[in-house]
Amino acid sequence: MIENVVLQAVTDGTEGIIVRGALSQDRSAIEVIMSTYFLDIEDIPISDFVVALLGQRVLGAACMCKGKVIEVHSIAVHPNHRKKGIGRMLLEALTSQLTHNTLLYTRTTAPMFFERTGFQKLEASVKSEIWDDCASCDKLNACTQSVLCLKVR
Ligand SMILES: CC(C)(COP(=O)(O)OP(=O)(O)OC[C@H]1O[C@@H](n2cnc3c(N)ncnc32)[C@H](O)[C@@H]1OP(=O)(O)O)[C@@H](O)C(=O)NCCC(=O)NCCS
Repeated sequence: MIENVVLQAVTDGTEGIIVRGALSQDRSAIEVIMSTYFLDIEDIPISDFVVALLGQRVLGAACMCKGKVIEVHSIAVHPNHRKKGIGRMLLEALTSQLTHNTLLYTRTTAPMFFERTGFQKLEASVKSEIWDDCASCDKLNACTQSVLCLKVR
């Protein structure tokens, strides 16, 4: 569960945007943003999300899942508001929930964003070692998702 930490942006581009833990009333806005990019969030509790808001409007959302490893499951920013620093704010809100030296993983088709925000790319072969669903996936050999990892500071 994401604690109700609030990040307030003051830099150009993200001025006025805040990031907080998601509330039940944010679910439909989160679903709309995630579905824009075909990201599936069906089984994830709302309490695992953070949202970026400008006033009442949800401009982005991200969620973290804790299983065998801790993983950024999904992150998305409204198409009209990308490249303004909102994705970075969402990641900071997630990592602020983790203790020093925790490893945070992601499987993603957007490796450049994660590299720019401090993640390091791992060999694709680790997918099947880390995740059971990858190990049992019949499309693993054709999978285009990169694996990256961040050690939380
Ligand atoms: C990936 C995503 C969440 C990034 O959000 P964003 O608000 O645009 O990212 P930011 O503005 O915070 O960018 C942070 C850094 O990453 C870089 N970056 C962001 N998207 C990038 C991309 N697609 N390719 C290369 N670099 C990228 C930015 O230039 C910035 O670098 P800088 O700080 O050195 O200038 C957003 O582009 C998105 O919603 N993409 C579609 C959904 C998706 O692919 N999600 C990831 C898979 S779950």
